[in-house]
Amino acid sequence: MKRFEKIRSLRGEITVPPDKSVTHRGFLLSLMAEGVSYVSNPLLSRDTLSTLSAVEMLGGEVTKNADCFKIKSPGFRCFKEPSDIIDCGNSGTTARLITGVLAPQGKFFVLTGDDSLKKRPMDRVVDPLSWMGAKIYGREDNRLLPLAVTPARMFSADIKAAVKSAQVKSAVLLAASQIDGKSSYTETTPTRNHSEIMLRQFGCDLTVKNNIITVHGGGKLSPSKVRVPGDFSSSAFFLAAALMFENSEILIRNVGLNATRTGLLDVLKSFGVKFDVDLKNSEDGEPFGDISIKSQNVQGGKISGDIIANVIDEIPAIAALGLFADKPVEIRDAGELRVKESDRISALVCNLRSLGAEVQEFDDGLKISPLESVNMKAELKSFDDHRIAMVNILLSKRFGNLPIDDIACVDVSFPEFLQNIEKLEVTSC
Ligand code: S3P
Repeated sequence: MKRFEKIRSLRGEITVPPDKSVTHRGFLLSLMAEGVSYVSNPLLSRDTLSTLSAVEMLGGEVTKNADCFKIKSPGFRCFKEPSDIIDCGNSGTTARLITGVLAPQGKFFVLTGDDSLKKRPMDRVVDPLSWMGAKIYGREDNRLLPLAVTPARMFSADIKAAVKSAQVKSAVLLAASQIDGKSSYTETTPTRNHSEIMLRQFGCDLTVKNNIITVHGGGKLSPSKVRVPGDFSSSAFFLAAALMFENSEILIRNVGLNATRTGLLDVLKSFGVKFDVDLKNSEDGEPFGDISIKSQNVQGGKISGDIIANVIDEIPAIAALGLFADKPVEIRDAGELRVKESDRISALVCNLRSLGAEVQEFDDGLKISPLESVNMKAELKSFDDHRIAMVNILLSKRFGNLPIDDIACVDVSFPEFLQNIEKLEVTSC
């Protein structure tokens, strides 16, 4: 059990950790390209270390320098067939993207993960890859890890997204880039586009038009240099914190501002929140800059439809804001939250209700009414989910002394979360 003293305000500037999604892709593309690539400022968290260890098992030679990793690889035509299973740990991105990387290899691989990942659906990548000829087998009719990725001859194909998921799209694109011929992937709703940006950066012939991504695959990928910006999803906890703790003022430096990730800024605007964004650079397709925000009223409101895919990782922070808003915060069309590191809808409902809030639960979301008085007997549960744990830490510090069952899982994406919050704390009245 962990408890925190009540904090009044958060003030100052922070640099959030490097982007998790970009780091995974930087490591994987460096493995797929023949030669020496560099990933500078990578995120070193539990999830991205799962990808890095898979890269090493598959033949990537990794040299770790201070904040720049050198990865030498024979390229995707010459992967090593590992003598053991690849353990993806807690990381859905590792498991799903790697399945796409390995499916066309013509070799035998076994993937597994921790107890949480073994419950998360893998058929969403197995199905489209199988339509392209892959032969992948798993538990419960190929739905769950462990998966065996076995030798198969894959062919180019036109795939339509059945799930709004960047991980599924990326698995298909990473496979398609290795397969001779023209493949396409059609999205109904745009999802984060880091794979598209980075595949192009590594020399893949890839174009995007009206939600259709076209890849002419089979060509060699050339080594490149990836610079990882700050993770917008980690900054979400600080944006929410500035609105939860009175008299706060936070400057977030060098955070990624890719438009397929920053839907939270649109949500905050629709809730009447004002902030400043100072865009610094967008040359390599991954823009970044600074965001500053101060304490102010949050009106609240409803979010649903296409924006949900863009804010999927930020919903725990948005839901917590519902406690402090003028009117309810309602989140719909977000059924995907039920298959994240935990069932985030029921996790949020459980914690926010325990605090005394009126919360309605729907299959595809939740509606949180402003908190009238806090239940100081509340016990917050993290469900072994890093984003739920980070919200719990903010709530425990905001109300003071509320116990949290576990906070160790923040190391999945943000190992230094507590230290970063503590740097900004103002305790005096
Ligand atoms: C990710 C995509 C999202 C997100 C996850 C990271 C990625 O998952 O929730 O944290 O890096 O592609 P889905 O693709 O399942 O929505």
